[in-house]
Amino acid sequence: MSLYNVSKEALIGSAALGAVFAVGLWIGGRQVPSYGILNTFKSHTGAKGNPLMGYVLDHSLREHPVLKKLKLRTLEHPENPMMVACEQAQLMANLAKLIKAKKAIEVGVFTGYNALNLALALPADGKVVACDVNEEFTSVGKPFWKEAGVEHKIDLRIQPALQTLDELVAAGEAETFDFAFIDADKANYDQYYEKCLLLIRKGGIIAIDNVLWEGKVLNPEKGDKDTQCIHKLNEKIHRDTRVNISMITVGDGLTLAFKL
Ligand SMILES: C[S@@+](CC[C@H](N)C(=O)[O-])C[C@H]1O[C@@H](n2cnc3c(N)ncnc32)[C@H](O)[C@@H]1O
Repeated sequence: MSLYNVSKEALIGSAALGAVFAVGLWIGGRQVPSYGILNTFKSHTGAKGNPLMGYVLDHSLREHPVLKKLKLRTLEHPENPMMVACEQAQLMANLAKLIKAKKAIEVGVFTGYNALNLALALPADGKVVACDVNEEFTSVGKPFWKEAGVEHKIDLRIQPALQTLDELVAAGEAETFDFAFIDADKANYDQYYEKCLLLIRKGGIIAIDNVLWEGKVLNPEKGDKDTQCIHKLNEKIHRDTRVNISMITVGDGLTLAFKL
């Protein structure tokens, strides 16, 4: 083997190693950081041990005693990570009060923490249309709705949420709702958004949950169908001139769309 050949091979080898290193850096730079975006901001799951989150909760949470009881009961449920973050629910209750909301829609109820939260925020003649397909989940919340004295404000409809939203439109309730929270199956998020836009009045608010999807929206091309649906809707809402928006890093990410 001549000196020339050795140098040439070494050169090719170095170039190949360099290329692998560069590709590694590029892929690494695009990956979701390994410190785990997962539930970083959601107080009852990943962020529980975060001292700053503890400070935020200690200095801002004003949870109704029955809401607190329902949260503790929900934490015993194996699907408890699905529950809305209580600090996020409080923000939504404050927004609902700010716009003097009377009629709200909850798309995805689970054990009904936010349905109760909204019902408590609405006036005595207020109404929350609560949409879910799972009676086992919603039955956990019902006794707490009763205990809080707002059971009469929650109109629970056990059937696919799209059907309920269509029924509300057909019943002539378009543009009569003040607040909507979208928090059910991600594949239908775009349709929930469009139907809620029909049902919400001008100046009303649509809150869309999980818009960061545990950080998976950073790599939508590698994500599953849910990730792609959320990412596409995020892009669409960003350009949507029918609403003003803010994307908040509370919970798993919350977009607030203010209907113009
Ligand atoms: C993330 S949880 C909702 C959490 C809830 N907003 C809270 O306050 O804790 C999602 C819920 O959506 C419901 N869901 C899933 N697909 C649905 C559909 N097609 N129509 C209505 N609800 C659905 C599930 O049964 C589940 O209870």
